[in-house]
Amino acid sequence: MPPPPLELRGVFKTYRNGGQPVEVLHDISLAAGPGTVTALVGRSGCGKTTLLNLAGAMDFPTSGEVLIDGRTTRSLSDAELTALRRRRVGFVFQFFQLLPTLTVLENVELPLLLSHAPKPTETARDRLVWVEMEDKSASFPYQLSGGQMQRVAMARALVTSPGLLMADEPTGNLDTASGDQILALLRESATRFGATVLMATHSAEAAAIADVRVSLRDGRIQSIDRP
Ligand SMILES: Nc1ncnc2c1ncn2[C@@H]1O[C@H](COP(=O)(O)OP(=O)(O)OP(=O)(O)O)[C@@H](O)[C@H]1O
Ligand SMILES: [Mg+2]
Repeated sequence: MPPPPLELRGVFKTYRNGGQPVEVLHDISLAAGPGTVTALVGRSGCGKTTLLNLAGAMDFPTSGEVLIDGRTTRSLSDAELTALRRRRVGFVFQFFQLLPTLTVLENVELPLLLSHAPKPTETARDRLVWVEMEDKSASFPYQLSGGQMQRVAMARALVTSPGLLMADEPTGNLDTASGDQILALLRESATRFGATVLMATHSAEAAAIADVRVSLRDGRIQSIDRP
């Protein structure tokens, strides 16, 4: 059996910013299979974003292991980490984080250019068709609605066909209709692109599309539900 795309084993995270160390994650273990959506739910400050950053290899646990495709992120060289972050992991954020001086098409192409992928324009256009934003290819982010910006951000996150997709409150800044469109795209990221999706959310609608619901409380797993 191949290793799961994502596994956390006994992960602890403590932040130390000069003052008292603060433990933010406590003994987190979970695994996520290919093509599944896992929702991380829990109150503000319970550690959801911290966990996404560890799972996406943007940061490292204080102890325990994060394994991506069976390899602990701690063992990767700087070059391997850069390649992993560019090709293997996609991110979607609450405030979209599109680059304001680039067009829609350029925003989506950028990850491909950075990883020297072949046919960047063709692939970027293909993803823009997927999110139904191809007619806005030449627009700038400020010319789009929030829902449209998040669809472009989805196209950008999936443009490298990443195995992992981290979504941090992806519907947190959207009206219900736009949020529903993004949730449908997140589901499709799993079913159509085979991505392993990890989504932090406060929204019951968002949690409802997940295969697995992980409830965090004060940095600890309170429950794991497979509805
Ligand atoms: N870089 C950091 N340095 C110190 N403390 C941090 C840092 N990042 C987060 N924290 C603290 O860790 C705890 C968890 O934060 P985190 O952002 O993971 O929570 P969250 O569940 O994503 O919250 P929200 O729902 O509000 O986004 C909080 O108490 C926060 O203040
Ligand atoms: Mg957060």
